[in-house]
Amino acid sequence: MPEATRGKMEEGAAAPRRHFLVFLWMGMGLLAVVELVWVALSFLRPGGKAVPGAGSGALFEAGRVDSFAPGTVTAFPRGRFYLSRLEDGGFVALSRRCPHLGCTLPWVEEAQQFVCPCHSSAFDRKGDLIRSPAPRGMDLFPVTIENAVVRVDTGRAIRRDRPDALAVAYPTST
Ligand code: FES
Repeated sequence: MPEATRGKMEEGAAAPRRHFLVFLWMGMGLLAVVELVWVALSFLRPGGKAVPGAGSGALFEAGRVDSFAPGTVTAFPRGRFYLSRLEDGGFVALSRRCPHLGCTLPWVEEAQQFVCPCHSSAFDRKGDLIRSPAPRGMDLFPVTIENAVVRVDTGRAIRRDRPDALAVAYPTST
């Protein structure tokens, strides 16, 4: 086969590949633009809006009072907090961020404690400090109960060393 003919055939085979790559790059560029616009819009949105089930920084609707048994701790990963229902029926919302250096605290059911995987600080179900090096108990989020629905304000973390810190919310009727 003559050299010129073979060159044209190879060129012809490469054309669809080239078109595919061009479309791929255009698609990726379009995706990047859409993502950029979405990020810009999310920054411009007004904060503090009540969005049930939204992530950290919003009023978080945790659920109905009767869906949490006394003496249980429920994790809300999207809200980055734990909702602890105390034995007396009260609710406390605890930040999952360790007040020592910020590691994520897991609830250890067997020990009935939050135990930090980083430096072993431990906290009880109210978030009170049991074992250092953490300098204080777990930070809290305000809890409100209206119409038997528990809501947590994840936009307002309260340090445990403040005098008004441990605010347990009680349902008026369950
Ligand atoms: S970060 Fe939790 S004990 Fe150090």
